[in-house]
Amino acid sequence: MLENLEPAKLELEGKTYLLPTVRGSEGEKAININSLRKDTSYVTLDNGFQNTGACISDITFIDGDKGILRYRGIPIEQLVEKSNFSETAYLIVYGKLPDNDEYHKFADTLNSHSMIHEDMLNFFHGLPNSAHPMGILSSMVNSLSVFYPEVYDPERENEAFDVAVARVIAKIRTIAAFSYKKSIGEPFVYPKHRYKYCANFLHMMFASPVNDYKLDHVLIKALNQLLILHADHEQNCSTSTVRLVGSSQVNLYASICAGICALWGPLHGGANQKVIEMLGYIKDQGISVQDYLQMVKDKKNSIRLMGFGHRVYKNYDPRAKIIKKTCREVLDHLNIKDPLLDLAMEMEEAALNDDYFIERKLYPNVDFYSGIIYKAMGIPLDMFTVMFAIGRLPGWIAQWKEMRDFKPVKIGRPRQIYTGPNLTDFTPMQERK
Ligand code: CMC
Repeated sequence: MLENLEPAKLELEGKTYLLPTVRGSEGEKAININSLRKDTSYVTLDNGFQNTGACISDITFIDGDKGILRYRGIPIEQLVEKSNFSETAYLIVYGKLPDNDEYHKFADTLNSHSMIHEDMLNFFHGLPNSAHPMGILSSMVNSLSVFYPEVYDPERENEAFDVAVARVIAKIRTIAAFSYKKSIGEPFVYPKHRYKYCANFLHMMFASPVNDYKLDHVLIKALNQLLILHADHEQNCSTSTVRLVGSSQVNLYASICAGICALWGPLHGGANQKVIEMLGYIKDQGISVQDYLQMVKDKKNSIRLMGFGHRVYKNYDPRAKIIKKTCREVLDHLNIKDPLLDLAMEMEEAALNDDYFIERKLYPNVDFYSGIIYKAMGIPLDMFTVMFAIGRLPGWIAQWKEMRDFKPVKIGRPRQIYTGPNLTDFTPMQERK
């Protein structure tokens, strides 16, 4: 619910302007500057959108100071305990928990859309085995718009939304597993209707024509938890990209493809791969934890402690807290002793007691421990960010739909302050110095 508050007063060049202010349902306040440029000829400047609210949203609430994350009001701690990824995806996309019939209908629709068009396999065959799975994933998701051109358009047809949702959530998992099979030169393994979402993914990843994959309920639960914890995170870089691209009224698949590309970067979802690479490097080079922290703190280097820090959380990331516990459970269950987990825990303890990290309120984020679980499951390093994308999909869909349903519809189009040359005449080639 949005509440109007007393207007803010702005003094500018000897004049006073009144700007509307609003408060959201958890008390977050904003000054609405929609009319600022029209009234004053000023725009606002905010590098990296550090303090810009780009939308009002009903989907996800984060309190970064207290370390709170809720989807549609429900704390993530309850969802990881009591829900599974399909049900949480329904919650995020449709705004409420499904009843029994709705849940089974949704799960059945996911199953019925789990295969990809056979002609899409030609794309896989044409790619080099070395292709990064994020590059494959983004291209394949974009290509859904040509294989399934009956894309959902909120202006015209509402009933097609359910199909578009099921299609992309179901197929992203198949595309991801096929890209792995392609990279190791094994035949693709098709989904099975009798398996639920996460079990089906593990089956497509690890079964082969000669071997079944023995389902492991601890791993299935852990995967459900990981995907739930990634399912939405309000206006992060990839979600803002999905909204911005979608605001031009391009279709859902193209918008999600853009989100996948934004997620790939190491400062965002790509950090889960970088954390394992960093820990491996520290271990292989025999660098001590304290020496590595010195390297990170030295501003002459551009080295960051990957998996640490967050734009919004100035407290322990609540997702990291759960993932750290799950990590220990999975490793114990599989009887794996991973020296990278010991190193990560040692690094965390040292960083949390170091003034540099304390002053800047830098804590482990969602990516710090997740890779150790994926590694234990047998998922290859370059697919970690793909796992993030599978998890984030319900959030992208819900945010895209919310953006398209918001009235008045506005294309995303920020302003700038120009600092280039003033009017300059063209110089013919022979006169150029
Ligand atoms: N290691 C060392 N110093 C850091 C780190 C880090 N991981 N993160 C932030 N800082 C320092 C930074 O150098 C700056 O110091 P100073 O004030 O002296 O210049 C201060 O902390 C504030 O950092 P910032 O870059 O202004 O913060 P930001 O909000 O723009 O960036 C971030 C957030 C996540 C990009 C950043 O913390 C980072 O690069 N972390 C490492 C990459 C990472 O783990 N990314 C995954 C984020 S969680 C998944 C997701 O949702 O994307």
